[in-house]
Amino acid sequence: MDTERETDSYKKTHHSSLNVFAMMIWPEYFNITTIVVGVVTFCLLAALILRPKNSPPGPWGVPIFGCIPYFIFSRRTGRKIFEDWYHRYGPIYNTKVGAINVVVLNEIEGFKEAFGNPEFQGRLPVDFMLGRAGEGIVMSDGRAWQEQRKFVHQHFRDFGVGKSSFEDSIAAEAEALTDALLKLEGQSVCLEHLINNAVCNVISSVSFGRRFDYDDKSLQTVLEMLKETVESSALQLVLSVLFPITKYIPFGGSNQIRQKVQIYFKFLDKLVSEHKAKLDETNIRDVMDAYLIEMKKDNGNSDIFNDDNMVFTVGDLFGAGTETTTLTLLWIILFLLKNPEAEAKVRAELGRVVGRNRLPRYSDRSNLPYIEAVISESLRLGTVSSVGIPHVASSNSTLQGYFIPKGTLLLPNFHALFTYTGKWEEPEEFRPERFLDKVGNFVRREDFIPFSIGRRQCIGEQLARMEIFIFLTHTMHKFALSVPEGHDPSVEGVGFTHKPQSYNVLIRKCED
Ligand code: HEM
Repeated sequence: MDTERETDSYKKTHHSSLNVFAMMIWPEYFNITTIVVGVVTFCLLAALILRPKNSPPGPWGVPIFGCIPYFIFSRRTGRKIFEDWYHRYGPIYNTKVGAINVVVLNEIEGFKEAFGNPEFQGRLPVDFMLGRAGEGIVMSDGRAWQEQRKFVHQHFRDFGVGKSSFEDSIAAEAEALTDALLKLEGQSVCLEHLINNAVCNVISSVSFGRRFDYDDKSLQTVLEMLKETVESSALQLVLSVLFPITKYIPFGGSNQIRQKVQIYFKFLDKLVSEHKAKLDETNIRDVMDAYLIEMKKDNGNSDIFNDDNMVFTVGDLFGAGTETTTLTLLWIILFLLKNPEAEAKVRAELGRVVGRNRLPRYSDRSNLPYIEAVISESLRLGTVSSVGIPHVASSNSTLQGYFIPKGTLLLPNFHALFTYTGKWEEPEEFRPERFLDKVGNFVRREDFIPFSIGRRQCIGEQLARMEIFIFLTHTMHKFALSVPEGHDPSVEGVGFTHKPQSYNVLIRKCED
């Protein structure tokens, strides 16, 4: 009797602990439930890794995680993994991140076709850390994106952003920057903080009509927060897509981002209140004023122009415009420090075209082809948007002859486009001459698109180009920069934004 009971209990526990797979292969356990469970499990796993017919080729992922393990468990960097896949699968390849289908674009033909196609202009819904209903421009799509993008374009035009009329305000900020540098003459300093602050002042003047002193603590907190959030949000974004539950965990990574973003919102909310209190409809000072006036149209009933969207839109301009431009300037200075012959050519060109009696103007650009080439070469080799912001397919479509199902993420791989696709000779070398013709004129290349192309092309390109040119030439006009003794800065970029590793510069004033 006891033995019978023992056998029974053994069977029960044993049975319950068997996994589905064992049940399927062990004929003793075959029954209709196990077959159904097995088939459903198999179909789910297959759906998680299989790709639709006529998809681009690409690496197989594992169920649930897709290609993530390649990045976590490989000793190679993300850039190197992408490069290996490019050589193996070609200019457009397909993989999965979790259950999401991802197509990576590497060559200009794919970029052009994808980003010119209205079906590929969506964005991934990112609500994992924000807790507010706004959408802004960078991460919105559909009507909210179209209308707000159009609105910003219109007001950038009205304020003369990127045009010669706007140059004086950038030049004034360049003067504040060079004054601050003068105080550091003879010292070995890291320029990151000063450049970051100067760049931020330009976009904040346009967006909310004020600049901040270089030692303003509230701004430092926000800039630090921005830097850290951009760095850590890529991983959190992937996690929140794979495991949506992580959005609601009150501790850990996504919670930290949420807290940091709250600091940003608090900073922006304060500016909104100040603007509301001082709004004068006959004197529109900045994008925030213009937005407040837009909100009043249709008796204040617009479903797009509201408080939350204003904070997101202005926050987008500030966020997208600060880090990218700062890092580009830091790359240019680093490349010039590491290539003294290029630095000497920049200085000689400035001396020849501008001289010592005036400061460089944006209109000098066409006569400064070598400097233009240095800027382009630094945008290429620095590639601060290593992989750009993913676009999402809003319906089933085709690309380069392949089927692209709705919901696919299109990932523009700018690093590939600017280095290893065989179009750039010795791509790892800093060589401004590749942007010059035989007689030294600057040449534009149609496959060089650091600000992307198509309908979502960077809204701040003109502004960024003007800032980079003015900040660089004014600094070079007034100072000689060199590597301090005992230092050997690295040109290996780090992190998601591919920023240069922190380096110091020795500053000496140029004699007049
Ligand atoms: C060197 C500096 C910069 C670089 C390399 C850069 C690059 C880019 C890239 C690659 C994109 C993605 C476009 C796409 O999704 O296809 C983008 C989008 C964007 N950028 Fe920039 N950017 C820079 C500076 C700026 C500045 C100064 C602003 C501020 C006005 C700005 C505002 C934006 C906005 C709002 C978007 C989103 C556009 C949209 O989704 O419709 N960027 N940028």
